[in-house]
Amino acid sequence: MSNIVLIGFMGSGKSTVAKALSKELDKKVIDMDFEIEREEGRSIVDIFDEEGEGYFRDLETDFIERLKSKNNKIIATGGGIIMREQNVELLHHIGTVVFLQADVGHIYNNIKKNTSRPLLQVDDVQEEIRTRLEQREPHYLKAANVIIQTSGKTITDITNEIVTIL
Ligand code: S3P
Repeated sequence: MSNIVLIGFMGSGKSTVAKALSKELDKKVIDMDFEIEREEGRSIVDIFDEEGEGYFRDLETDFIERLKSKNNKIIATGGGIIMREQNVELLHHIGTVVFLQADVGHIYNNIKKNTSRPLLQVDDVQEEIRTRLEQREPHYLKAANVIIQTSGKTITDITNEIVTIL
């Protein structure tokens, strides 16, 4: 096994940390959002628009079902993965689950210029982050084997912390 599974809210740095860990530990990255877009031949925004969120959530579950056979990978998940109990159970069979815990300000700074997240295409983005983070935080905490605070830290700090702990 020895896979590392990164979970956390949109904009908490999962994809960037995954790339840095990949270099540090010489493991390949599987970025779920990217792979789902590739398999579907369309963007996540288009999948949400054309099929709805439920369809995307089924794609996520189907994708992680197939990760059980993988070894030695860094897996960057989508921010909503922990909202299905079944997904969390699957993630624990896949690897060590690391929660990148970020605050609203950190998340907002990371995502404010980005339009690739259908759930954050709203007027008051900070309020949307606050509400969703409040709903999701207990699920991230429950799913995590390891919790890493990311707000105010560099990618190098975060990567070093993960490498030291694991
Ligand atoms: C989502 C997070 C996104 C992507 C989709 C839904 C969510 O991934 O899977 O837009 O529900 O939090 P990132 O966490 O990589 O932005």
